[in-house]
Amino acid sequence: MDQIIVTGNGPLSGQIPIAGAKNACLTLMPATLLSDEPLTLTNAPRLSDIRTMTTLLQSLGAEVQALQDGQVLAMSSHDLTSTRADYDIVRKMRASILVLGPLLARFGHAEVSLPGGCAIGARPVDLHLKAFEAMGAELDLRDGYVHAKAPAGGLKGGIVEFPFVSVGATENALMAATLAKGTTVLKNAAREPEIVDLAECLRRMGAQIEGEGTSEITIQGVDRLGGATHRVVTDRIELGTYMLAPAICGGEVECLGGKIDLLAAFCEKLDAAGVSVEETPNGLKVARKNGRVSAVDVTTEPFPGFPTDLQAQMMALLCTAEGTSVLEEKIFENRFMHAPELVRMGAKIDVHGGTAKVTGVNRLRGAPVMATDLRASVSLILAGLAAEGETIVSRVYHLDRGYEHVVRKLSGVGAKIERVSGQ
Ligand code: UD1
Repeated sequence: MDQIIVTGNGPLSGQIPIAGAKNACLTLMPATLLSDEPLTLTNAPRLSDIRTMTTLLQSLGAEVQALQDGQVLAMSSHDLTSTRADYDIVRKMRASILVLGPLLARFGHAEVSLPGGCAIGARPVDLHLKAFEAMGAELDLRDGYVHAKAPAGGLKGGIVEFPFVSVGATENALMAATLAKGTTVLKNAAREPEIVDLAECLRRMGAQIEGEGTSEITIQGVDRLGGATHRVVTDRIELGTYMLAPAICGGEVECLGGKIDLLAAFCEKLDAAGVSVEETPNGLKVARKNGRVSAVDVTTEPFPGFPTDLQAQMMALLCTAEGTSVLEEKIFENRFMHAPELVRMGAKIDVHGGTAKVTGVNRLRGAPVMATDLRASVSLILAGLAAEGETIVSRVYHLDRGYEHVVRKLSGVGAKIERVSGQ
């Protein structure tokens, strides 16, 4: 298995291009199932999660062609052959559940394997299922599969009130509602930029949607959707990750394609820690204001709050901050698995339940560490950039799920980083 070796070395300088958002692309791809006309996505990221979604859609009979080195995905669900998403593919990636809404809405039935647990908590799909029930679907959980059936004549519009915010459940319900009869109102909906991006794409396909980006989305169902071409929004998590690189080891880096409104809460915390973020015509320029950064407290929340997907990377920064920071994880249980690995590098971190107390040290030391999930793996690379000596990160397949060309992007701004084929 491959490993990434990072050697801490001085300040970084240059530009890093930011890719299209993995999480947006993973919900835009299943939108192809809603129509028999082609859907083309541009600015798609080249990631293993995207390849997994490609395999899943192909298993249903959809055509998915990766063009222009994978940055363009040309899809058609004209000749679907199946409405069953098999365990073998679904178990690899939770976002597979996002095919359920579109299949149910267009064909009136679907069978999708339950995704099962994952490394960052139990992550059930009950909110997705409740939303379909509110649209009149009958659901039966058998043999590890959700067997979903729409009423005769198709899904019906309804009021869906989410008890708490779920990105995936909002996306699934939004897609299903575009083809339901009548009006659907999603209350306490997620407001993430990826939801706005999905709504924009669906509207291009002919859907009638209002209120995306707020906590109440209203969808007027239509009889059919057509084709469209849509550009995937910038990946705000990849953006935030690379913004942390100069914050951690000094220098100045411009993240191309970045915008503050994708990450306002995160930028506020960087400012409070002593990191300046400047909007340029091409993106965001990031540099430390003075020498060492200062401690800040961070609580993860749904958008527009501080994203849980940047908590591990922020912790890497705070490991060398002046003072003690408190990080509270409110979205997922068990999302501090990077903490013991950072401790192996000399960090001072105490974890109690959903809270981590991080006391900054002057310098981290390189060590062999293990990636435990996607965001944890990149936090270890960031920590390694500023550590004394060599950090060897293993299990980097987690990284390939969400970061394209990480070695090329970081070495392009002067980092000493290489990927080697490990044992
Ligand atoms: C998406 C993102 C993920 C991000 C997360 C929160 C994708 C592909 N993934 O995941 O990177 O970390 O949003 O920003 O877009 N929950 C339930 N029942 C449900 C659904 C969710 O209890 O039916 C819980 C989850 O366990 C979690 C919380 O709700 O504690 C929020 O999860 P959700 O917003 O649904 O995350 P995902 O859509 O899975």
